[in-house]
Amino acid sequence: MSVNESAEPTRRDFLYIATGAAGAVGAAAAVWPFIDQMNPDAGTLALAQVDVDISQVAEGQSITAKWRGKPIFIRQRTAAEIEEAKTVDLGALKDPLARNANLPADAQATDANRAVDGREAWLVMVGVCTHLGCVPLGQSGDFDGWYCPCHGSHYDTAGRIRQGPAPENMAIPALEFVNDTTVRIG
Ligand code: FES
Repeated sequence: MSVNESAEPTRRDFLYIATGAAGAVGAAAAVWPFIDQMNPDAGTLALAQVDVDISQVAEGQSITAKWRGKPIFIRQRTAAEIEEAKTVDLGALKDPLARNANLPADAQATDANRAVDGREAWLVMVGVCTHLGCVPLGQSGDFDGWYCPCHGSHYDTAGRIRQGPAPENMAIPALEFVNDTTVRIG
C-alpha cells in the first residue's frame, strides 16, 4: 500500500497528550509548553518518568505522549496488525535487533520483543525516525505501520524499519504498566 492509500482517517493518530513528571497524568497538549517551563533543569528532565493515561486509547487508536522532549507513540494495535507483524520472516528485517530498553541488547526483533511484555496489543516507542530524527506518520507507508516522509523510511506494525534509509527499528523506552490504564515511561 502506498502512503496515500493507507491513510484511513479513523485509524490515524488522533489524540495528542502531553505529560508531566511521574505522578502527573496526561494533560491537554496545549498546556505542555507551560509544564515544560516549570521543569527546573535538564538534569531533572533526564531522570523524569512520565505516567500516561491510556484509558481512552481503543483498539486501532494511538496517542502521542512526550517524554524527555521526545514524542512517544503509544498504540493499541488491531489483531490484524499484530498478525501482520508476527508473520514477518526475521531474515527479512533490515535491523534484526529489538532495540527494546527492557530487554538485553542482543534480543531479536520478534514481534513479542517489540510489544509490551504480556500485552502484545500495545506498542510503545520513541516516535523518532532513526535516520535523521524526523517524526514519522502513523498508520502509513508500505508496511501499514509508520512512514517518515523526510527521506522515505517505512516501518511496519511493530515499528521495525523495513524500507528506506533509516538504519534501526524505532527505539522502545524503559516502561511498565502501573495498572491496566496507566503506562509509566522511563
Ligand atoms: S529522517 Fe526519516 S527518513 Fe530521513
